Amino acid sequence: MFDSGLGGLSVLREVVRARPDAHYVYVADDAFFPYGHHSEPALIARVVPLMGELIAAHRPGLIVIACNTASVQVLAPLRAAYATPFVGTVPAIKPACAQSQTRRVSVLGTKATVQREYTHALIRDFAGGCEVTLVGSPELASLAEAALSGTTVSDDAIAAEIAPCFTGDAADPAGRTDTVVLACTHYPLLLDRLERLAPWKVTWIDPAPAIARRVGDLLGPSTGHAGDDGGATMIFTSNKPHQLSRALTPYFGGRVPA
Ligand code: DGL
Repeated sequence: MFDSGLGGLSVLREVVRARPDAHYVYVADDAFFPYGHHSEPALIARVVPLMGELIAAHRPGLIVIACNTASVQVLAPLRAAYATPFVGTVPAIKPACAQSQTRRVSVLGTKATVQREYTHALIRDFAGGCEVTLVGSPELASLAEAALSGTTVSDDAIAAEIAPCFTGDAADPAGRTDTVVLACTHYPLLLDRLERLAPWKVTWIDPAPAIARRVGDLLGPSTGHAGDDGGATMIFTSNKPHQLSRALTPYFGGRVPA
């Protein structure tokens, strides 16, 4: 499981639930965080060789790029460079547009994710006539990172980041946004606060359950028994000492990552 930071934990949580028998190596490339602030060439130059080192060191059977910003820019070069299967995380525009009643959908991601051609192509192919508003959030991933690390993050800071998602006539439930795609894996970590701070109720689309199903399909039938704990390792590329292991156990299905 690979992300720029702790956001991929929102994907890991679902994947571990689906496949408790696997061993997990979670890699947070925090030395290069936030990915949303880098250019595409810089991100490719960073992630492709780093992945080569990780594959050589850990020999994974499957790699989940649990990061939209990396997936929309680096997934193709990764697949071209390595034989290991990759599962990416890309904005869930198709299911969001399929279920929107008001035909107004917002895509909340990093600035990089909403600017890239990959995301624009998803809208062209799958918007199905919905009006799609792209919202590039400059700070929400960093705010989620801070909150998970135990720093107080104000409601005002979060509310300001999500405000542009809410379009249309606020007074008319049939004429306003009803669906928001969480197009950055950090955001589901703040879901309870997003729900509370939203100016009106919307459906938030988190792609993690769909990714977990895809991982299960690719891994094939479980070789272990229900309740088996394959263990887990957590790596921060900054090598900074951290005290997070115990706080993160719920995301690892109860195991304490080494
Ligand atoms: N978690 C990442 C994503 O899904 C990005 C956060 C960042 O590093 O900017 O887009």
